[in-house]
Amino acid sequence: MIVVSGARGMLGTYLDGDGILKTDLPELDVTDAVAVRKFVAAHRPELFLHLAALTDVDQCERQPELAERVNVTATRNVAGACAEADCAMLYVSTAQVFPGTKPSGYVETDATGPVNVYGRTKLAGEEVVRATVAKHYIVRTSWLMGGGADTEKKFVGKLLELMKTGRELRVVDDKRGSPTYARDLAETLRKLTESGRFGTYHAANRGSCTRFELARALTELTGADVSVHPVPSTDFPLPARRPDSEVLLTTELARAGLPLLRPWREALRGYLHEWGY
Ligand SMILES: NC(=O)c1ccc[n+]([C@@H]2O[C@H](COP(=O)([O-])OP(=O)(O)OC[C@H]3O[C@@H](n4cnc5c(N)ncnc54)[C@H](OP(=O)(O)O)[C@@H]3O)[C@@H](O)[C@H]2O)c1
Repeated sequence: MIVVSGARGMLGTYLDGDGILKTDLPELDVTDAVAVRKFVAAHRPELFLHLAALTDVDQCERQPELAERVNVTATRNVAGACAEADCAMLYVSTAQVFPGTKPSGYVETDATGPVNVYGRTKLAGEEVVRATVAKHYIVRTSWLMGGGADTEKKFVGKLLELMKTGRELRVVDDKRGSPTYARDLAETLRKLTESGRFGTYHAANRGSCTRFELARALTELTGADVSVHPVPSTDFPLPARRPDSEVLLTTELARAGLPLLRPWREALRGYLHEWGY
């Protein structure tokens, strides 16, 4: 059996199948060490996909203790329970563990150096997993999109909402990332965990763009009658600093002989199709 925490989130939406037990709040709160240990002991999974996290980057900055509890303490709880039960663990991490100074993209072995609370807590989670569970996968991803209207809380979902009413949109052009369709990531996680090749990986749709370029692609692909204008991020002050580059290169997936994810624009087209555009 495979257990998934945080399964009602964007990525969890795409993790279905025989032998997969999905959990989320309130039935399993991963910050509760006793509950996690009991859950693992009761179900005896071979693999624990730990997706649960505090993913709102600005909330992490405003509530660092909560970010620490959900992103680090809970990961320690899951890792401890997995080690005790001889269960493999997969931890989903983020491009925000890097400082963001490499527009060409980060490989798995690049030096980390987060610039915000979210990145620091996700990196601490990685370190806990490496130190605690021998059979682990750490998979960093970037700019997730997925889940459709009910679940998508991130950039693509917000923009599609804004495009329903606005005719002019101002979008930042100095932040770059690798947009990644959660459905494609879920498929990569399936193949990776079937391979049994433990380690640290980057998994993201191929290529990169700025937020502005992603918004332009959205208007092109949906045919929306909206003008998109590039602006600097200083026009939108936010509690948490964002790294300038969240571009990921999937070097280790290639080395492991696993299929790479398709280019981001194709993936975006697939996602919009799923959403009825
Ligand atoms: N979204 C991105 O762009 C992105 C990029 C890189 C990496 N990641 C990583 O990918 C993973 C999945 O992200 P996602 O986008 O699917 O996140 P998401 O949509 O925010 O889902 C996270 C899920 O975890 C749940 N959760 C929060 N606290 C919990 C707790 N104490 N116990 C149990 N469940 C809890 C949330 O429930 P509530 O909604 O009720 O709080 C939510 O259902 C995360 O580890 C994230 O750090 C995401």
